[in-house]
Amino acid sequence: MSKPNQTLGEFIIENQTAFKYTSGELSRLLNSIRLAAKVVNHEVNKAGLVDIIGNAGDTNIQGEDQQKLDVYANDKFIQTLTKRNIVCGIASEEEDDFIAINSQDENNQNKYVVLIDPLDGSSNIDVNVSVGTIFSIYRRVTPLGTPVTLEDFLQKGSAQVAAGYVVYGTSTMLVYTTGYGVNGFTLNPAIGSYYLSHPNMQFPEDGNIYSVNEGNYSDFPVGIKKYIKYCQQDEDERPYTSRYIGSLVSDFHRNMIKGGIYMYPKSTKNPKGKLRLLYECNPMAFIAEQANGKASDGFTRIMDIQPTELHERVPFICGSKNMVEKAEEFMRNEQ
Ligand code: AHG
Ligand code: MN
Ligand code: MN
Ligand code: MN
Repeated sequence: MSKPNQTLGEFIIENQTAFKYTSGELSRLLNSIRLAAKVVNHEVNKAGLVDIIGNAGDTNIQGEDQQKLDVYANDKFIQTLTKRNIVCGIASEEEDDFIAINSQDENNQNKYVVLIDPLDGSSNIDVNVSVGTIFSIYRRVTPLGTPVTLEDFLQKGSAQVAAGYVVYGTSTMLVYTTGYGVNGFTLNPAIGSYYLSHPNMQFPEDGNIYSVNEGNYSDFPVGIKKYIKYCQQDEDERPYTSRYIGSLVSDFHRNMIKGGIYMYPKSTKNPKGKLRLLYECNPMAFIAEQANGKASDGFTRIMDIQPTELHERVPFICGSKNMVEKAEEFMRNEQ
């Protein structure tokens, strides 16, 4: 499957016959995400040099201050995805409602909907810490030729046909799955191509890193508090190392490579958790499961949750399988 020096473009074409739907449209869709990510990468990299850092002066529907780069990345992904006659709808963290796209032949034959977090970890931009992009792709459930509806977006994570993220880090990587494992590609900025650098990525079954915003500790459910204490105990292979960047994409990426657990539990401030089910948790859960990891809300598999709202939030526990199962055990015991 993987060859030396294989580019993302070559990989997508070579593997498209393995996709569930072989029309080539999904390949074109992934190609357009690849392109938009390159454009956003260019802007993120020069963020300190031009007037692109800081607040855009608006808030999004979830009450967060939008950063200029949130708005820029949102516009770039929407522009790129809209032009290509593949996608019939887009939902984004930065848009109140989903965007319906009319295909150029006016028949609305476009099959796919995309849900996106255009810039993840955007509060880190001003201090030069890694940020990311997260995307999730579904086939629409309503008939071709009709306007796209909310129902097309409110699908369970288990129906995703592809998901991925871009991490704009020390190097820029695009990591994605179409349900046949997870592969990671690193951008060579001089050439502008992504090369397959991390074939068949896998979470180690166990790990020794835990990632959680412990500032919220006093508000966490008892099960999570006890699990955190367990992580800190001097016993067996513990204490674990604490690592928390505050960018889901970067925290997840590190944990997948090294072995670890990421948690964003509910708290008094965020009674349903903070992370968004549709464009943060579901795509990361799909990648995690495809990489032999696990994702849960503490009790239920993330990808089995039936969404009811575009921007709904959910508690998120994700990472190495044995670690997530241990955290779930603590949650169950405190119910
Ligand atoms: P976004 O920047 O897309 O709004 O996402 C922010 C999320 C996620 O990236 C991160 O893991 C989490 O918020 C951090 O939250 P805290 O600052 O509350 O720890
Ligand atoms: Mn945000
Ligand atoms: Mn995010
Ligand atoms: Mn975001």
